[in-house]
Amino acid sequence: MHPMLTTAVKAARRAGNIINRASLNLDLLTVKHKRPNDFVTEVDYAAEQAVIEVLLDAYPHHGILAEESGQQGDSEFQWIVDPLDGTTNFLHGFPQYAVSIALMHNGVLSQAVVYDPSRNDLFTASRGGGAFLNDRRLRVSKRVYLKDALIGTGFPFREFQHLDAYLAMFRDLLQKTAGLRRPGSAALDLAYTAAGRFDGFWEIGLSIWDIAAGALLVQEAGGLVGDFQGNETYLKSGNIVAGNPKIFGQLLQAISPHLSDALKV
Ligand code: IPD
Ligand code: CA
Ligand code: CA
Repeated sequence: MHPMLTTAVKAARRAGNIINRASLNLDLLTVKHKRPNDFVTEVDYAAEQAVIEVLLDAYPHHGILAEESGQQGDSEFQWIVDPLDGTTNFLHGFPQYAVSIALMHNGVLSQAVVYDPSRNDLFTASRGGGAFLNDRRLRVSKRVYLKDALIGTGFPFREFQHLDAYLAMFRDLLQKTAGLRRPGSAALDLAYTAAGRFDGFWEIGLSIWDIAAGALLVQEAGGLVGDFQGNETYLKSGNIVAGNPKIFGQLLQAISPHLSDALKV
């Protein structure tokens, strides 16, 4: 394993331990509202601090962008951290959440970890080295037709300017696929796409820390990731489509009639 990936795994497990311990006593948590429907707890902060500590201990000169504390440092090596992706699930004891850590080198995704602490599932990828779930090599699914595909998504829940466009996509895909699921952690949704559990995934308006690690997992598992036009700006726009190569194209096609101008990035 690449030494930088080993460090990321150590950081993710450290955060996962904090999350697992806290999950035993959810009643004790103080929940703050960042924005309507956007929650944060002391667990998010503690998990994030643990990740940052491990990363900076190994690589003091690297830059880090973390969801709760923002950007620190400036380097060709840039870590992107979501300490707890799926906070709403976590708060409800709904066991679908993860720690997401990615490394970009000169703007290119190079290492990725998505760690599901409640199942002890560790998804990892290094650019050019493949994607893994624990010790097992991952490949995207082989499903060919959208009508047979199980597709993951995320609902808009705090900003509703794209709600009509989203619901039009949803309405269409509900009828064109074998099923849609909204598990509640974009990082894990992408990891599941890499693992072939989902044949594809789409969501509007995510943040870079939700998707950076998951995107590399999908690519290294042989899948494709793009924005709603199939281009590479998804980390910036947060508008993301992913899937096995066959389903990716069909998803883009199904989505395209419903795109407003603002979503054509
Ligand atoms: C959220 C999850 C969710 C997605 C949201 C994200 P958070 O992350 O990834 O699946 O639909 O858009 O913000 O806030 O729990 O870290
Ligand atoms: Ca997130
Ligand atoms: Ca988060």
